[in-house]
Amino acid sequence: MASLRSVAVTVALAGNLVSASSLASSSKRAVPALAQVINQKSFNVLPSVPTAEEYNASSAPWVPLNFTAAGLADKPFHVYDDEFLAIIGPNPTFTIIAQTPKDPIFHEAVVWYKAKDEVFFVQNAGNPDAGTGLNKSAAIYKISLKEADAVKNLRDAVGKVEVVHVPSTPEIPNPNGATQYKSQILFAAEGQGAKIPPALIVMNPVEPYNTTVLLNNYFGRQFNSLNDLAIHPKNLDVYFTDPTYGESNNFRPAPGMQNQVWRYNDRTGAVTVAADGFVMPNGITFSPDGKYAYVTDTGIWRHGLELSNPSSIYRFTVQPDGTFEDRKTFAFVDTNIPDGVHTDSKGNVYAGAGDGVYVWNPSGKLIGKIYTGRTAANFQFVGGGRMVVCGETRLYYVTLEGGTGEGAFVDSYL
Ligand SMILES: *[C@@H]1O[C@H](CO)[C@@H](O)[C@H](O)[C@H]1NC(C)=O
Ligand SMILES: *[C@@H]1O[C@H](CO)[C@@H](O)[C@H](O)[C@H]1NC(C)=O
Ligand SMILES: *[C@@H]1O[C@H](CO)[C@@H](O)[C@H](O)[C@H]1NC(C)=O
Ligand SMILES: *[C@@H]1O[C@H](CO)[C@@H](O)[C@H](O)[C@H]1NC(C)=O
Repeated sequence: MASLRSVAVTVALAGNLVSASSLASSSKRAVPALAQVINQKSFNVLPSVPTAEEYNASSAPWVPLNFTAAGLADKPFHVYDDEFLAIIGPNPTFTIIAQTPKDPIFHEAVVWYKAKDEVFFVQNAGNPDAGTGLNKSAAIYKISLKEADAVKNLRDAVGKVEVVHVPSTPEIPNPNGATQYKSQILFAAEGQGAKIPPALIVMNPVEPYNTTVLLNNYFGRQFNSLNDLAIHPKNLDVYFTDPTYGESNNFRPAPGMQNQVWRYNDRTGAVTVAADGFVMPNGITFSPDGKYAYVTDTGIWRHGLELSNPSSIYRFTVQPDGTFEDRKTFAFVDTNIPDGVHTDSKGNVYAGAGDGVYVWNPSGKLIGKIYTGRTAANFQFVGGGRMVVCGETRLYYVTLEGGTGEGAFVDSYL
């Protein structure tokens, strides 16, 4: 890493930007003020390529040759393919709306409560800086999108958007994933210690934020540490992932079942396995038509860093009966892991990774990144081309004005 970074720094002033015209395309779209084109040919050949021990993208993002970390952050919409210009539109915005010194309260479970135009999210469970896990459960917070909208043309609006603590009652133990569910919010909770099992828990999104457990076992057996969930837009079943991050973070015992993707039918109570064969199944989502399921596998982080494991997104075809078929490797991310995953209304696939939100077209071509320069574990589309991106100790508000950057938000399960 050291040699790579020094190369980038010494040539920093040589001119970072590749003009849009150098892309092999007939597109006439201008590159917006907050965007820059990254020509992948420009780093196909590096003067020296570091070893995996020197650079493995686990602790610092990739800085292409002749770019700098500051330059990458300055224009955070990175265009890897012209197709991205149609998504971001002529005037995308990118604003830091909140920040904490150390506590990673902007982690995952990013969910839009449409009725009040609010966004809920949760703290990183098991992170030493949060003091959560075995001793203290991770907290839930929310913001008002009206306040975020008002500052969207600023780059830094820290202090201008209130971050409100949400006291769920009874408290949801170490929540990590969330989705809209029948006008309420459904969380995937990782559990706490050996005695409080992982569970799917519904929360009333208004005071008193009362909660009800929907599912906490499979035929009497504890799940490992439920991570993320998604509702299929056609059959309305809840599909959820169960890796062992509770064990990795020392707040859950050794696993009692293999890591896999589950399916819950809340009309019959049936719990079935949807897919296995993962190291650490993590984010999950569906294409807007429900034809495809996307599951991220963040196996490189299990017992520490295991670089030969997946850092990948798999796509399945969802059969009319809701079963998964035809597992296909969809993408492998360059920087750290693909965590939360969501699709837009056109079926493009977005995932939070080590340096921002990556965007692939439906065939798995990387077309752009919304660059945070730090881990962006999850994010959510919140209507009208708006996005909220969680960056652990930073919260971002993004607007895409291309009209195709709309999330695949399905009202039918509201
Ligand atoms: C990087 O900058 C150097 C120094 O100006 C220049 O010679 C080289 O062509 C540049 N490389 C790329 C890939 O842009
Ligand atoms: C990954 O890179 C970091 C330096 O950024 C290094 O400290 C670590 O040992 C590397 N890990 C492996 C497994 O190579
Ligand atoms: C819980 O608290 C005890 C006592 O302060 C501490 O030793 C332990 O490391 C904590 N465990 C976790 C998982 O944070
Ligand atoms: C919250 O409490 C109200 C009033 O008792 C009840 O109708 C509702 O179902 C509860 N919601 C949840 C998610 O527990």
